[in-house]
Amino acid sequence: MKKVCIIGASGKLGKYMVQHALDRNYEVVGVCREKSVEKLDSYKDRITIVPGRTNDREVIKKAVKGCDGVLTVLVPWGVNNYSSGTAQAVLDFAEPNARLIFSCGWHITKDGKDEYSRTLKMFLKVAGWIGKVLRLVDIEDQVRACDLVFASDKKWTVVRGSGLEEGESQGLPVWSEHVGDPILESNLTRRIDFALFMVKALENDELIHKAPAIVGCQTPSALAHKSET
Ligand SMILES: NC(=O)c1ccc[n+]([C@@H]2O[C@H](COP(=O)([O-])OP(=O)(O)OC[C@H]3O[C@@H](n4cnc5c(N)ncnc54)[C@H](OP(=O)(O)O)[C@@H]3O)[C@@H](O)[C@H]2O)c1
Repeated sequence: MKKVCIIGASGKLGKYMVQHALDRNYEVVGVCREKSVEKLDSYKDRITIVPGRTNDREVIKKAVKGCDGVLTVLVPWGVNNYSSGTAQAVLDFAEPNARLIFSCGWHITKDGKDEYSRTLKMFLKVAGWIGKVLRLVDIEDQVRACDLVFASDKKWTVVRGSGLEEGESQGLPVWSEHVGDPILESNLTRRIDFALFMVKALENDELIHKAPAIVGCQTPSALAHKSET
């Protein structure tokens, strides 16, 4: 892994991924909206920034060229297929052998075997409805985006984040194939460690074609069930 592209580099998760990638001496290309370029000012001498919306196919084509890995923050902003447009552009233009890592939440399911709490189901229903009525977010579009990824034969991994918090790193999160597995019960990960999992997945071929659901390695459920991983 020499050169990686981070799509959504100016966000909270994106900036942590930029730092982890630089810590590993990767050459970094970051994509973010024009108006957010300044959020990356502290990295501007060390990374290449390609300004633009992440579903702009020309922007993505230029940014992923020659990259061994692509880290994509999938976010379902608006009601114009932002997530699925982003995923499709990455799948279409990434180098054939590149490792592709996508972020999303626990609500995404690869095989339908995840078990969700009533609270999460209710939250998704209400948040999904409000987001769509206000035309702010389209949670279903993140589902469509991940379905595109799951159907691809590229070397992808979809990392499914739990609830997030800020704070210093606690180490690499633990993971499980299905939400509902006891190890995930604490439902909390430090955002910096979510980013670490994404970046480390670039060099972990065991995660190819998997959708790990992650949780912080120091959370009670992780500590109680660690021996199972
Ligand atoms: N937040 C959670 O609790 C949570 C839980 C589980 C999983 N996740 C997953 O974690 C990932 C990162 O989520 P996050 O909540 O931590 O957010 P984040 O990293 O801050 O990312 C938000 C991204 O959305 C972009 N953005 C914001 N408003 C936009 C708009 N109107 N149009 C287009 N782009 C816009 C931001 O770009 P700018 O810098 O240009 O604004 C940034 O790249 C996502 O894949 C999410 O599904 C989040």
